[in-house]
Amino acid sequence: MSAAHGDLAGLTGHVSVHDTPEQIAHAAAELIAAAARDAADARGEFSVALAGGTTPRLLYQTFTTPRWRGAMPWAAWRVYFGDERACPRDDESSNYRMAREALLDHVPIAPEHVHRMPGDAADLDAAAVNYAALLEHHLPRGPGGAPRLDCILLGLGENGHTASLFPGTPALLVRDRWVVRGRADYPPFDRLTLTYPALNAAALVIFLVTGEAKRPAVRATAAGETPAARVRPLDGTLRWLLDQAAAGEATRT
Ligand code: 6PG
Repeated sequence: MSAAHGDLAGLTGHVSVHDTPEQIAHAAAELIAAAARDAADARGEFSVALAGGTTPRLLYQTFTTPRWRGAMPWAAWRVYFGDERACPRDDESSNYRMAREALLDHVPIAPEHVHRMPGDAADLDAAAVNYAALLEHHLPRGPGGAPRLDCILLGLGENGHTASLFPGTPALLVRDRWVVRGRADYPPFDRLTLTYPALNAAALVIFLVTGEAKRPAVRATAAGETPAARVRPLDGTLRWLLDQAAAGEATRT
């Protein structure tokens, strides 16, 4: 693992480049475990918003291995989601289904401590208001007045989106709400997503990015040209965990 520079210098926060997705999963697990232990010791709870898509699956599966299953304060975990697709909870597109199959079904987190984002709601705008109220009810207020999550996991789309904050969509402009309807440019088109105020109130934000297909999005983000580039925790830590394929040829220290 080493810090990468070169074209990645524009990425905000700490950047580490790893040889393989497996190494990213273990590095991310270490970061999350440390944050979980600190939060559990301080407040008895660790609030984490899980990312969707495919990249985080390996991390979630890593948590279910003996190495991690016994080394995590699972009773303190309070699980939320960064975004969700407008589909049934057991649909193959569901971020909740992916997290349930890869992690939640295999670790001792009480069901009442898992707060599914209701992408299957008939009225997504009302669902967004309700989920924001749930965040406010359970979480302390962070900088800017938004609910403060201990940790938010994020991926990066090939067009530079993150969560369901897609280029050119109204969700990018929201400054006074924590959860809104999102609009993707691939199905399921309708989404629910955390907004920038919610993302930037977090104590720790971790981007997990793998694969050569993400290299242009990484560079565009480093140039400040993507929705992901506007994730800048106001009073928190931002970490980018990239594999070499996504980072490209960068100067390694
Ligand atoms: C989603 C995610 C989304 C994802 C990126 C990367 O609901 O799809 O929240 O932001 O993180 O699209 O997806 P992959 O990990 O599948 O490349």
